[in-house]
Amino acid sequence: MFRLAALVSFVTFASSVVNAQSPVYGQCGGQNWNGATTCAAGSVCTFSNPYYSQCLPGSASSPTGPTSTISSSASQSSSASHSSSSASSVSSTSSTPSQTPVAGNPFTGYSIFLSPFYAAEVAAAAGNITDSTLAAKAASVAQIPTFTWFDQVAKVPTLGTYLASASALGKSSGTKQLVQIVVYDLPDRDCAAAASNGEFSIANNGQANYFNYIDQLVAQIKQYPDVRVVAVIEPDSLANLVTNLNVAKCANAQTTYLACVNYAIEQLSTVGVYMYLDAGHAGWLGWSSNLSPAAQLFSTVYKNAGSSSFVRGLATNVANYNSLTTNSPDPITQGDACYDEQLYINALAPLLKQQGFNAQFIVDQGRSGVQNIRQQWGDWCNVKGAGFGTRPTTNTGSALIDSIVWVKPGGECDGTSNQSSPRYDYHCGQSDAAQPAPEAGTWFQAYFQTLVSNANPPL
Ligand SMILES: *[C@@H]1O[C@H](CO)[C@@H](O)[C@H](O)[C@H]1NC(C)=O
Ligand SMILES: *[C@@H]1O[C@H](CO)[C@@H](O)[C@H](O)[C@H]1NC(C)=O
Repeated sequence: MFRLAALVSFVTFASSVVNAQSPVYGQCGGQNWNGATTCAAGSVCTFSNPYYSQCLPGSASSPTGPTSTISSSASQSSSASHSSSSASSVSSTSSTPSQTPVAGNPFTGYSIFLSPFYAAEVAAAAGNITDSTLAAKAASVAQIPTFTWFDQVAKVPTLGTYLASASALGKSSGTKQLVQIVVYDLPDRDCAAAASNGEFSIANNGQANYFNYIDQLVAQIKQYPDVRVVAVIEPDSLANLVTNLNVAKCANAQTTYLACVNYAIEQLSTVGVYMYLDAGHAGWLGWSSNLSPAAQLFSTVYKNAGSSSFVRGLATNVANYNSLTTNSPDPITQGDACYDEQLYINALAPLLKQQGFNAQFIVDQGRSGVQNIRQQWGDWCNVKGAGFGTRPTTNTGSALIDSIVWVKPGGECDGTSNQSSPRYDYHCGQSDAAQPAPEAGTWFQAYFQTLVSNANPPL
């Protein structure tokens, strides 16, 4: 194994001396990458994650050298929302929708574009597994569509590259492409927990920074009207406003969250993004005392944003572990009439409808393959024994559910178990949480391998 790797790397190295540049959108770095680390003219090598750097269009113009896009403050203050493309300046400034919303399921008739970022993570992970059967199963996960989380403004230019690739693929294959994203960069994010605190703070210009983040997403999406974009809007945020206003950080964030989500909906509607507002899960808003307040809040947010037809409905179970349907409730759900996601959706939908919001749903089942593995329903962090779940499909068995989806890319960590980390949350140190776990969002190899082994249905 090792010898072969060394030989391969020598050959690649030798050839990279001859062909020292990667093409635009080509790989230019990452763990175990032995190819070219410089990019063709007109593109810049841009860090995506420890396993993947990519040549993205643009010149290293003003800040010369390898611009670090990791630094979260790097692009906030720039007015450069159009800098990634010289073509964008011709687009009209009209705020009228460039597309007319379809009446039906936005997933119908489209092929879901596979995230190159996740595919690269999975490929690197599979390459690290010595058991060849398990490695093959692991590698197959790269073919299952997940959402891409735009959890930092510096990652937004990557969306442009995905849209460009999706547009090209749509044309060459004759099958229209759908790109799935998560909008996730609120100031004072994750107000009731610690593991996913974000880059913006309300006290430090957070709302303006967030508006700029949304503007940058819009600028990218506007350039590719042939690609359909489906977005989950701000996981946990509105749900926190339903149940966690007793937490000071959430109470303090309330007006800003509402203003930011409103802005996101209005602006993303102008470029035809189909949106599902995050609605927590059965074990959170599905309790009978929470259902009505939740319906009230979601409907109000929907109406305040002009009842946009691009707000298709709500997303549930994002990054969580609940089953869609079950005949035997997990013991931890004791007492909740909504002991699975379908029951939660069935209970919530009529309440929304009463308030004028005819919501449809998508449900994350990415890591719901194994049940009865948690000690408490509130446990959400790297739950031990979890497995990949039902594959994404529009064949959902429910008229209320547009699609089963994988929102959380399985293998990316929920939160660190390092108690000294500023983002340590006690849930990630509990006995049903896999440990040691790296920071939220980074790759968690051992956990990924468990998800593969325990996949249900099997991979
Ligand atoms: C835990 O976090 C602290 C503080 O960020 C860091 O200094 C330390 O290296 C981390 N430990 C491990 C094992 O990652
Ligand atoms: C892959 O294996 C190498 C060598 O053992 C290790 O340094 C690296 O961290 C591993 N990568 C992952 C994603 O686990």
